[in-house]
Amino acid sequence: MNVFEKKNGVLHVESVSLAAIAEEFGTPAYVYSAASIRAQYESLAGAMREALPADRQPLLCYACKANSNIAVLKLLQSLGSSIEVVSKGELLRALKAGFDPQKIVVEGVGKTRADIEAGLEADVHQFNVESLEELSLINAIAADMGKIANVTFRLNPDIGGGGHDKITTGKKGDKFGLSFDRVLEAYSLSETLDHVNAIGIFTHIGSQISDIQFFTALFETLQQRVEDLRAKGYTVSRLDIGGGFPVQYTGDEDLLDLQAYANAVRDLILPLDVEIIMEPGRYLVANAGVLLTKVLYEKTSHGEDFLVVDAAMSELVRPAMYDSWHDIEPVQNRDAASTVYNVVGPVCESSDIFARQRSLPKMQSGDLAVLKSAGAYGMCMASNYNTRLMPPEILVDGDQVALIRERQTYDDILDRETIPDWLF
Ligand code: LLP
Repeated sequence: MNVFEKKNGVLHVESVSLAAIAEEFGTPAYVYSAASIRAQYESLAGAMREALPADRQPLLCYACKANSNIAVLKLLQSLGSSIEVVSKGELLRALKAGFDPQKIVVEGVGKTRADIEAGLEADVHQFNVESLEELSLINAIAADMGKIANVTFRLNPDIGGGGHDKITTGKKGDKFGLSFDRVLEAYSLSETLDHVNAIGIFTHIGSQISDIQFFTALFETLQQRVEDLRAKGYTVSRLDIGGGFPVQYTGDEDLLDLQAYANAVRDLILPLDVEIIMEPGRYLVANAGVLLTKVLYEKTSHGEDFLVVDAAMSELVRPAMYDSWHDIEPVQNRDAASTVYNVVGPVCESSDIFARQRSLPKMQSGDLAVLKSAGAYGMCMASNYNTRLMPPEILVDGDQVALIRERQTYDDILDRETIPDWLF
């Protein structure tokens, strides 16, 4: 579904002109389309509905690290999504957005006491446990609080998938999860603990996985592991099979065939007779968002043309961090001419570059453009580097426009810092 289209020469999101949004809210700004999020949710839920019986549908737990704005969360909650959180902060967002606590999955490789207490307080669906020490801590805190925590253990299956080394999570050497011998120890330890209830396995092998073979290899491994655990008398009533579904950034990447994925779940996971949990993140929100920016300066140096825009790596760090590609499109085309540009932000780092030697329509100072597919891992990874203000977020739904996060102010930043007396 393409919700970003030129109408009368001006790029729109759904029915709203991005030029009008820039006029009203300024730049840089994140802009999201509700229709796109709905369509993505429906295509994933629809593929699962197609493949699995009505009474065996997975619990779709949106991995809200991808985009945790509470309006975006509310939208997904209203579609029937559940949610996965990795910190007390994300849990508070989820509760504020109205998610049923008993369908919230709490994940995180380094859960703090505060994260665990908040999860127990809310009576969440489960904790995905990453270490034996964490298991003991959850048990101790649950005992103090008079609760019993449902736990699944994160298996590191030594199967890595994904678009970039920095986003694979399931290979040995990755910090995530436990090798199977450790999962066995964790199950055994839980038998001695009164306040945890070990009920399954969780695994998430990476992000941007387009090759179904990674998933089928994972599912086959899970089949084997479930069999091994049950043979030892352990309960496996839930399998959380993670996320990792890819989206297009350049327009010509291979995409995962979602129906083939759903069929693999049907063929390999369904017979295990477990509650199935999935954790899609990027897939639901990436293509729904753009980062709207304005050209500040144009310059030529050593024969190369640079466009300095008012967005930077502080708003969208993905290109600097993962060399990732985001399509760039002017909000209005000046003429048919194109130029090869380096598109850079104002931050004092050479890595603050959105595109190198990219052929784009001719632009000049004052022109607006968008960085596309920025709805996932965009705003939620933004920083105040160079004491730049965090940008606003705007949600569009048809012709409705809402400011869902205000631009930060300088006071927001400076008021939290103090100079000790002894420096005067
Ligand atoms: N579940 C867990 C435990 C995860 O760690 C993640 C993502 C997901 C689910 C969702 O994965 P997705 O469906 O979005 O691929 N910042 C990077 C991506 C980091 C992914 C972290 N974990 C990027 O911008 O590409």
